[in-house]
Amino acid sequence: MFRSTRCLISALHRVKDRYLHTCDQHLSDVAEYESPITDENKKGPTEGRSLYLDAQATTTLDPRVLDKMMLYLTVYHGNPHSRTRMYGWESEAAVEHARQQIADLIGADKKEVIFIFGATECNNIAVKGVARFYKSRKNHVVTVSVMMVNNEIGVKQPIEEVGAICRKKKVFFHTDAAQAVGKVPIDVNAMNIDLISISGHKLYGPKGIGALYVRRRPRVRVELQSGGGQERGMRSGTVPAPLAVGLGAACELAQTEMAYDHKYINTLSNHLIEKLMSNLTHVVRNGDPVAWYPGCVNLSCVSKMNRY
Ligand SMILES: Cc1ncc(COP(=O)(O)O)c(C=O)c1O
Repeated sequence: MFRSTRCLISALHRVKDRYLHTCDQHLSDVAEYESPITDENKKGPTEGRSLYLDAQATTTLDPRVLDKMMLYLTVYHGNPHSRTRMYGWESEAAVEHARQQIADLIGADKKEVIFIFGATECNNIAVKGVARFYKSRKNHVVTVSVMMVNNEIGVKQPIEEVGAICRKKKVFFHTDAAQAVGKVPIDVNAMNIDLISISGHKLYGPKGIGALYVRRRPRVRVELQSGGGQERGMRSGTVPAPLAVGLGAACELAQTEMAYDHKYINTLSNHLIEKLMSNLTHVVRNGDPVAWYPGCVNLSCVSKMNRY
């Protein structure tokens, strides 16, 4: 939730001259072209804007991630699947490095990480794609799917326990971890997870990129997509190298800073909850006070009090 506060004060300021100046220039070019510049749109892009607190909906791009992406948006712009030339090799190497960074964050092998547009598409492939592949082979429950951290009330589900039951019953276990990856520790092997949905824009990475973890041992198969056969056929289409680089960088930063962020967020959340609940009447907290990710605070104003 609050990495943005720290980043925007330190890292964003560090690079703001480079990027915000360009952004300001672009905005005024556009404004000049479309309409006369008013005093209002002469303001910089961050000026006069309200605070953004809904980090469950999306997060800001960490400027350090943008730094990594810039080279692949400009200079190294080759198609990572163009295997016959240097431009392709450069992009491919960057994509593979990003795949490793994602795998490291969740304790996976990099061959098990598939680049996908976002968590929604991952969920579709994980649930429908697996069911379609095994349609004629299995005549029982194929996949159990549980959201790791809830996006509204921040409740954390007992993933390890569910994973153990699924493995015992030989049922695939998928978790939508869009709100959990990079925020809470995940180990696909210790938790017996077979498929994980990951979204870049929930962990200070770029929008429009995600990753699906698909276990190789015991092997999980999904219905293959028609097309160029990229991403082992599970997600045909050119992998957007700059976005993949961004997701990889975001995962590496999350891994390095997770413990610090968690402690910091916990302090801020508890402070916010304590101040609001001690100063306002008729405020109740939703969710679970123990199995909870502190970056998601959900409070209601009610007429009948039932606080925990
Ligand atoms: C738990 C969860 N899953 C999936 C999504 C959708 O992710 P994406 O925008 O990457 O498709 C969201 C948020 O929008 C979410 O909170």
